[in-house]
Amino acid sequence: MQKKKHLVVGNWKMNPLSPDEAKRIIRSTKKEAKGLKRTEVVICPPYPFLSLIKPEKKGKVFAGVQDVFWQTSGTFTGEVSPEMIRQSDGKFAIIGHSERRKLGETDAIVAKKTNAALSAGLTAIVCVGESSRDNTGDYLEYLKKQLAGSLVGVKKRFLTELIIAYEPLWAISSGYALSQAMKPSDVHETTLYLKKILAEIFGKDWVSSIRILYGGSVSAENAGFIIGGGGVDGLLVGRESLDLKNFPLLLKSVDAVPL
Ligand code: PGA
Repeated sequence: MQKKKHLVVGNWKMNPLSPDEAKRIIRSTKKEAKGLKRTEVVICPPYPFLSLIKPEKKGKVFAGVQDVFWQTSGTFTGEVSPEMIRQSDGKFAIIGHSERRKLGETDAIVAKKTNAALSAGLTAIVCVGESSRDNTGDYLEYLKKQLAGSLVGVKKRFLTELIIAYEPLWAISSGYALSQAMKPSDVHETTLYLKKILAEIFGKDWVSSIRILYGGSVSAENAGFIIGGGGVDGLLVGRESLDLKNFPLLLKSVDAVPL
């Protein structure tokens, strides 16, 4: 199997305020992406800006969203279905981000959304992560339960379109300098653990189909190190994905890391 490229997913959260600003960031990201050899980029803006991305046939920038609902259409005021996203040229959906889980999204809801997104032909980026670490290793049990609960019902035939984003809550927006970021060796250790759990769920032959991302204060300064030493297939980037100066630098540093 050909090794997949690094994947950098920009999670814009509820930013920026105007379509003009959104267009500027998209333009700058696309410009930088043209020179990338080993990296693909996904931009996940708020819904109103999705159509501004206009993914190109052979381009390296894809469009995604930050959430989807599990039904296809109907009387669900305020919701957006995976099928609508697909038909609007969206390819990826972040699901179960900790900021949504904080609003009440449970593992069971995340699993429903994940299954719906995969069935509609989207690539699902399912977020998991502990809120704190302890010396007794309880967080590993927590991660295991959250991961298994978020993937209930996922069919093996969809696993190439399943991505797990490991985002420890304590590392999100916590400090973007290299000295503050999670150590690549710690990211690596947790990645191996997640793979072990995925092997228990789906069987070990399937684990290589599932990509794993790391997210939490990823920056231009630390991205290359995390990709290089974290054993991950890519990064989920919040704040820095909106930064006109730093995001291009971040992409460049990721692209410099051999596959
Ligand atoms: P951050 O956000 O990169 O700003 O820490 C990451 C995320 O919450 O997805």
